[in-house]
Amino acid sequence: MGKILVTGGTGFIGSHTCVELLNEGYEIVVMDNLSNSKLESANRVQQLTNKIFKFYEVDMLDYDGMCKIFEENEIDAVIHFAGLKAVGESVQKPLEYYNNNIVGTINLLKVMNKYQCKTMIFSSSATVYGVDNRPPYTEDMQTSAINPYGYTKVMIEQILSDICVADSEWSVVSLRYFNPIGANKSGLIGEDPNGIPNNLVPYIAQVAIGKLEKLNIYGNDYDTPDGTGIRDYIHVVDLAKGHISALAYAKKHKGFEPINLGTGSGSSVLEVVASYEKACEKEIPKEFAPRRAGDLAVSYANAEKAKRLLNWEAKYNLDEMCADSWNFTVKNPNGL
Ligand code: NAD
Ligand code: UFG
Repeated sequence: MGKILVTGGTGFIGSHTCVELLNEGYEIVVMDNLSNSKLESANRVQQLTNKIFKFYEVDMLDYDGMCKIFEENEIDAVIHFAGLKAVGESVQKPLEYYNNNIVGTINLLKVMNKYQCKTMIFSSSATVYGVDNRPPYTEDMQTSAINPYGYTKVMIEQILSDICVADSEWSVVSLRYFNPIGANKSGLIGEDPNGIPNNLVPYIAQVAIGKLEKLNIYGNDYDTPDGTGIRDYIHVVDLAKGHISALAYAKKHKGFEPINLGTGSGSSVLEVVASYEKACEKEIPKEFAPRRAGDLAVSYANAEKAKRLLNWEAKYNLDEMCADSWNFTVKNPNGL
């Protein structure tokens, strides 16, 4: 059996997936350009699992660098996390996002074709449901986007689907993640964003540890029970395990398959804050602020397809997600 190449493998979701892959007995090769993560993350994964793997500091836009990885290793499948993911930044720097995410993925796909490796698990996002669909979102809904980041996911899914039509040897599972939070129970790896976090839970974590003054709650006038936005938060370890199931599925089925990874139910901003306050045993300073541009009121998955095709479902609840995030934050107050 060959190895699994994990692109973006030192990042938040990638590092957690590496742990699950190694625990399941897979041999892996990790590549990342370290633009949004640190090498220490790979060290921690090896420490945590007591297994070793090769790490390549390569940019996915570098064709020769990518070929070298395939020359030096027998790669059976690729789990493709590498990409830029900040929605606001994508509006400011669209060319950088389109180039990195789309051109980078095309480059990777060319290299995969060259080495006859035709199995991929892709990191897509609930963002592809756009603004016209009503939750719970099902995979057959029309996809669309409202910012360059979202367009990169919609376009890459189109490219992957087209490849599967053109060449029946290809097998691609596009996993549409909802809102991953939490951390490995060990507290060795977790979410370690650069600068001021954009996302809710990393932001709350920094308020709780005293690095940021207060949480701004973006909008309390949404048409939801408490007026704040609702999302389908999912524990990153559950999400990581979903990739193991997707890999097993992709080995047996050809073609393109989009699959949601969510819990199937949503929590409001105020519910997340209350759960985090329980975890850290203090009050989170907070105030209501205007709605953030581009935010939806409610987003959650229909999680049936993952259960049916992958025999996978999320196990952890919101309190466990917040407790594990807090454990990581306390153990790593300055990140990795
Ligand atoms: P992350 O930033 O922690 O991980 C992405 C990794 O990709 C980083 O380590 C970064 O250095 C690397 N990378 C970026 N461009 C690269 C390039 N050109 N060459 C090599 N490496 C490159 O983000 P994450 O939260 O782990 O997300 C992983 C994937 O999941 C991304 O594709 C993201 O868009 C997608 N996703 C994330 C979320 C979320 O909320 N975290 C939700 C939906 C989808
Ligand atoms: N929120 C706050 N204050 C903050 C940050 C967020 O109130 O400081 C609120 C948001 O308004 C939203 C909820 O918390 O209601 C969750 O916000 P996040 O930024 O954590 O997550 P989003 O759902 O906005 O974004 C996520 C991913 C994106 C992806 C999007 C759609 O981070 O990459 O889901 O799938 F595009």
